[in-house]
Amino acid sequence: MLVSTIVSALSLFAVASAQSSISTSSSAAASASTSVAAVAATGSNGYSYAGCYNETTGIAGTNGDRALSGGKMETGDTTTVAVCLQYCGDSNYQYAGLEYSKECWCSNYLSALSTQLSASNCSLACVGNNTELCGGYLTLSLYNLTSKKAGSSGSSTKGDASSVAASSWTFVLGAGVMALTLGSAL
Ligand SMILES: *[C@@H]1O[C@H](CO)[C@@H](O)[C@H](O)[C@H]1NC(C)=O
Ligand SMILES: *[C@@H]1O[C@H](CO)[C@@H](O)[C@H](O)[C@H]1NC(C)=O
Ligand SMILES: *[C@@H]1O[C@H](CO)[C@@H](O)[C@H](O)[C@H]1NC(C)=O
Ligand SMILES: *[C@@H]1O[C@H](CO)[C@@H](O)[C@H](O)[C@H]1NC(C)=O
Repeated sequence: MLVSTIVSALSLFAVASAQSSISTSSSAAASASTSVAAVAATGSNGYSYAGCYNETTGIAGTNGDRALSGGKMETGDTTTVAVCLQYCGDSNYQYAGLEYSKECWCSNYLSALSTQLSASNCSLACVGNNTELCGGYLTLSLYNLTSKKAGSSGSSTKGDASSVAASSWTFVLGAGVMALTLGSAL
């Protein structure tokens, strides 16, 4: 529960920062957008761009579950697509998703309730690189692991196995157990 509270607080903080930066620097953003247009990065580290997908926290019946749950996440002021794909790829997660400019979510499963949106729904530049896109408000720039990384062998199977188990339990037992599972994983 502590971990889920922290994650929720981080998300709220990210929303608050995004909103305040929008309201305080709209003229800067407007002038920047005339010279720099952020684009969806194609992917790296074995991942390919899969499209813009919806977050699920606000959809009825999900108990606030994330589109990419049961894995791990990080957020910070240096977030880029490559940094996120490295972070998720270190544990061989199937999916990596960037949200709110700065959040990186990793999971082996994409929620069946997450639907593909139009590209324009993922329009926030990454905090660590303003020429590439890092999702949007409740939307994910989704990346899918489509080729094995060079040099990835059986050396990290312990981490892989516990990730898979954590995800399975999360989907069976719900958000309360997810918090405990995440807590022990971290
Ligand atoms: C910034 O993003 C662009 C587009 O993905 C990429 O080509 C470039 O290498 C990135 N630069 C840095 C410093 O990460
Ligand atoms: C996207 O998710 C939000 C809640 O997170 C929901 O209200 C909305 O209906 C969803 N939109 C689509 C197109 O699935
Ligand atoms: C996606 O963009 C459309 C058109 O701007 C908008 O109506 C819709 O609310 C957006 N959906 C999300 C989940 O941001
Ligand atoms: C991700 O890649 C896997 C394996 O190629 C594929 O089965 C799955 O449909 C892809 N998911 C998305 C959301 O594109």
